[in-house]
Amino acid sequence: MSITIKSAEDIEGMRLACRLASEVLDYIAPHIKPGITTKEIDRLGAECMAQQGTISATVGYQPPGYPPYPASLCTSVNHVVCHGIPNDKPLKKGDIVNVDVTVITKDGWYGDNSRMYLIGECSIAAKRLTALTFEAMWHGIVQVKPGAHLGDIGHAIQKFAEGHGFSIVREFCGHGIGQKFHEEPQVLHYGRPGTLEKLEPGMVFTIEPMINAGRREVKEFGNDGWTIVTKDHSLSAQWEHTVLVTETGYEVMTLSAGSPPMPPFVTATRT
Ligand code: MF3
Ligand code: CO
Ligand code: CO
Repeated sequence: MSITIKSAEDIEGMRLACRLASEVLDYIAPHIKPGITTKEIDRLGAECMAQQGTISATVGYQPPGYPPYPASLCTSVNHVVCHGIPNDKPLKKGDIVNVDVTVITKDGWYGDNSRMYLIGECSIAAKRLTALTFEAMWHGIVQVKPGAHLGDIGHAIQKFAEGHGFSIVREFCGHGIGQKFHEEPQVLHYGRPGTLEKLEPGMVFTIEPMINAGRREVKEFGNDGWTIVTKDHSLSAQWEHTVLVTETGYEVMTLSAGSPPMPPFVTATRT
C-alpha cells in the first residue's frame, strides 16, 4: 500500500466532504456552553449530518482490537486526550472540550476535523494551551508543499509546542484520508526535518496534534476501550484540519464560515 494521489475530481469530492465536516462544528458551536452535556453535542452533530445528507464515520467504527465506536463524534474534555465518548455529564464553566467530527458524503469521501471550545471563563493555563495548540497545528500546516517531508511537519509542531513547555502525544497521529477514514501516511506530530515521506501534489492528510500541558504519557481510561487520558491528569488540547498538497503549497480543506481565523504568522507569510 502507498499514499494515494487524488485526481482533480477526487479533490472536488474531498472539498465537499471537508467543508461539510467543518460546518458540523459551526452548527454545534453556539450550543456549547455551561450545562450542555456531551451527549447533547453528539445529538446536534447527528442532526446536522442528517440535514446535510452525510453520515458519521465514527458510529460503529471498529479498528482491529477496538469495540465499535458508539457515537457520531468524539468529545474530549480537559485531561481527555482523544476519542472521548459523549456522556450525560454537563460541561461546566472552566472546562475545555475538543469536538472531533468526521463525515462521509454520498460519494464516499471523508472529511475529518476538530476544534477546541472553552466553556465560559477558563483559566489562563487552559486558554494558553488551547491557543498555542491551534498555533502548533498551523506551524505544521505551513510546512506543506511539494518536496517537503513529513518530518518537517512533525518537527515544526514539536519545536513550537516544546518551546512553550508543552509536550506532544506520540501514540496518535494524523493520517491520510480519502475514500477511507485512515489511509497512509501516518503524520507524526514530532520528528526531524528532511525525514520520512516526500510530499507530492494530490496527497491529502490530516494534521491533528494532541498537546499536553504536563507530561506526554497517556493511558486508557476505564474500560470503554476508547477514551485516552493524560497519565498525569494534566490538560490536553487538540485541533485538526484535513490538508491537500497543491502544486505550490497547501490547501486547508476543512474550512467554513465558522472556522477560527488563521494565526497572524500564517497570514503574514501567505502570498
Ligand atoms: N476523528 C478521529 C481522527 O481524527 C478518529 C476518531 S475514531 C473514533 O482520526 F472512533 F474514536 F471516533
Ligand atoms: Co478527527
Ligand atoms: Co483524523
